Amino acid sequence: METENIEEEAQREAEEASSSRALYEVKMKFLGRTGKVTALLKGMREIAAEHRPAFGKRVNELREKLEGMFSSLEERMRRREMEEKLAGERIDVTMPGRRRQRGALHPVTRTAYELIDIFSGMGFEVFEGPEVETDHYNFTALNTPADHPARDMQDTFYITDSILLRTQTSAGQIRLMEKKSPPIKMLSPGRVFRSDDDATHSPMFHQMEGLVVDRHITLCDLKGMLDEFARAEFSSSSKTRLRPSYFPFTEPSVEVDVSCHICGGKGCPLCKGTGWIEVLGAGMVNRRVLENCGVDPDAYSGFAFGMGIERIAMLKYGINNIKLLTENDTRFLEQFED
Ligand code: DAH
Repeated sequence: METENIEEEAQREAEEASSSRALYEVKMKFLGRTGKVTALLKGMREIAAEHRPAFGKRVNELREKLEGMFSSLEERMRRREMEEKLAGERIDVTMPGRRRQRGALHPVTRTAYELIDIFSGMGFEVFEGPEVETDHYNFTALNTPADHPARDMQDTFYITDSILLRTQTSAGQIRLMEKKSPPIKMLSPGRVFRSDDDATHSPMFHQMEGLVVDRHITLCDLKGMLDEFARAEFSSSSKTRLRPSYFPFTEPSVEVDVSCHICGGKGCPLCKGTGWIEVLGAGMVNRRVLENCGVDPDAYSGFAFGMGIERIAMLKYGINNIKLLTENDTRFLEQFED
């Protein structure tokens, strides 16, 4: 009988179906609009009238049977697929977690923050000047006119004849004094640029500038502030000493050494056996610089200082090559995690 063959065929194919999707396709093949069982019902017209009721009954029974079979198989398939999905997504909550990699402040940023912290404790305010400067602010107003030999001390990147990448944060001294009258206690951190490149020099580095202008400021005030800075930044027993030097914008000018924080002054490789390490340049603000900014040099005096932030970081953390600070190798940087 045709209905029996169809029933067997449908059963076999349905049991072989390996997914809900495949099972649905088998179901459509028999019970769908163009399916085999539907075709039997459509073919009723060609059957002799006296056989029609019996035939129709058989086909309807077949349809109901197959519908029942498909719905129980569908149910079984759904359960199996759900179990497989759950097994695949199983999470072992007792497994150790994957650690997130933590970032850390770059040693230059960290050192800059330390310095800002130390000096703001002494009443300094932070002021930032532009990285692209004019010749006027970077040199001329700092008592370094065009033919001044001190310009050779710093190999400058010029953009035009009068515009350049600042070679020193000292330019900020002028910008601030033009805006603000004394008393002034300014700290100016920032990037500077020089055409210079070896193990201790980089074409881009950072400086921290300081400027104090008020009535009766003396070199003693500078010395006292430097001692305070050295003790806070390096070691509680650090000392400073001043050596005569030359900068066009200060008079007198000094080079400042800090007692070696590694050997305490006895002499070691870091301080090259001298017990002292040069850390910054400083001096009393030159009268001409005050005049250039409209500050009366007979009423006011001041001191200024400038240090390389990379240099301070290298000394403090024992870093022997400045390139480590720009390569951003995480094996180096992660050593500065707190
Ligand atoms: N601008 C100097 C430099 O880059 C550093 C410096 C020296 C800054 C003496 C100062 C200072 O403010 O008084 O070499």
